[in-house]
Amino acid sequence: MLENSNRRKFIKDAAITGAAFSVMSTPMKVFAAEKKSTVRIGMIATGFRGQSHLGEMLKRNDVEVIAMADPDKRMMAMAQKLVAEHGKKAPVEYTNGDYDYRNLLKRTDIDAVIVASPWQWHRDHGIDAMNAGKIVGMEVCGAIHLQDCWDFVNTYEKTKVPIMMMENVCYRRDVMAVLNMVQKGLFGDLLHLQGGYEHDLRGVLFNDGTPNAGPGVEFGDKGFSEAHWRTVHHQKRNGELYPTHGLGPVATMIDLNRGNRLTALSSVSTKSMGLNRYVANSPYGGPDHPNAKIHYKLGDVVSTQIQTTNGQTILLTHDTSSPRPYNLGFRVQGTNGLWMDYSGGGFDKGHIYIDGKSPDDAWESPQKWLEEYDHPLWKRYSKEAEGAGHGGMDYFVDNAFIESIKRDRPFPLDVYDLATWYAITPLSEKSIAEGGTLQRIPDFTNGKWRTRKPVFGLSDEY
Ligand SMILES: NC(=O)c1ccc[n+]([C@@H]2O[C@H](COP(=O)([O-])OP(=O)(O)OC[C@H]3O[C@@H](n4cnc5c(N)ncnc54)[C@H](O)[C@@H]3O)[C@@H](O)[C@H]2O)c1
Repeated sequence: MLENSNRRKFIKDAAITGAAFSVMSTPMKVFAAEKKSTVRIGMIATGFRGQSHLGEMLKRNDVEVIAMADPDKRMMAMAQKLVAEHGKKAPVEYTNGDYDYRNLLKRTDIDAVIVASPWQWHRDHGIDAMNAGKIVGMEVCGAIHLQDCWDFVNTYEKTKVPIMMMENVCYRRDVMAVLNMVQKGLFGDLLHLQGGYEHDLRGVLFNDGTPNAGPGVEFGDKGFSEAHWRTVHHQKRNGELYPTHGLGPVATMIDLNRGNRLTALSSVSTKSMGLNRYVANSPYGGPDHPNAKIHYKLGDVVSTQIQTTNGQTILLTHDTSSPRPYNLGFRVQGTNGLWMDYSGGGFDKGHIYIDGKSPDDAWESPQKWLEEYDHPLWKRYSKEAEGAGHGGMDYFVDNAFIESIKRDRPFPLDVYDLATWYAITPLSEKSIAEGGTLQRIPDFTNGKWRTRKPVFGLSDEY
């Protein structure tokens, strides 16, 4: 994970940082020098997403799950049940409130943590872990404040403890085949890219967790899982709240932060109607239910246009409050053709057109192209990925995390990607609040984007 030349410095810096970090009184252990064949994991948050990472970890014989922190005892019990089903030793539990994760971080027998907590916790969980010398796998979202993004970068640069952006959609099979086509020049020079999060979340945003009752109309204190925390973001914020599923995959195709960078964005939103209508029309709610009358600030469809220094444009769409089938809406367009997806993935879905190879002015099914350019990683690991979440892509993101640590190699999606992608959210909120004004996107690499080389998808190992 750490470049070899940095290892000695890391050990020295880590000791200094560990001493300075008040919460972490125990000395840090530098894992890689001692133990490379097994990665010892701590889980921070064992909700639904934490459990899917946990499931991937439990399948592996090169991972030990040592401890898990989550204040929700119901989620913790579900996670422990999963561990027992895999016949593994029960991890130590930290369930004593929101800050018990810091006691997990004090352990000297953990190399890395996977963070799958609510968005408002990502900053503290990630930064406290890096300061405690624990390598971080960070789930997706957007930042609450722009400063959070700098905090991630500054903490990494101070501690040299790596953090991986766990964006699983970068590993979707059709996305990786298209990446392969991009890297082989099939589309020519890339011009315009689209992606988004177009997913009807209404049944997730209103769910009281009553077993078998189906989605309800409650959220916040009465809500379960994401209804407990995510819906409040819809109530209080208007912006591109979930940028990474759309941006991450196209970012790897245009070598973002590695020869290219985002320069500016502008966002606009529609009015907000979907969540009110949902509660008003629900048999559990009705027009007089308090949650049918709340003002949800988030516009039903948020559109964000982004520019890059290499002359591309990107359009992101956030659309989670309306009845609609799932779609991430990818479009990858270059000087020589384009691919468009209109579903949740699959080689037979969407359209492709390659100038000079496709029939004149006619869309083709992408199937034969995506099969021909199936990514070497997928060819190699498709068996292992069978049964893993989200059509197998969860296997790849977790495998990349563990293999990078074991092989002491840089993460394919690193702190600069995390900061840049997370920054879209607060910048889009500001843009919308100011009527769509252009917002400059900071260069979180401080100029290193000019010389950093592309890595994602270029190895057939992980
Ligand atoms: N990549 C994907 O495909 C994908 C899918 C779903 C969710 N996610 C992301 O995963 C994250 C978690 O989402 P989820 O669906 O699992 O939500 P969830 O509500 O099911 O789980 C969140 C868990 O975090 C716990 N938690 C809250 N505060 C905590 C704290 N201080 N310390 C430790 N644990 C704490 C909660 O008790 C809960 O169990 C979010 O960032 C979400 O956007 C990603």
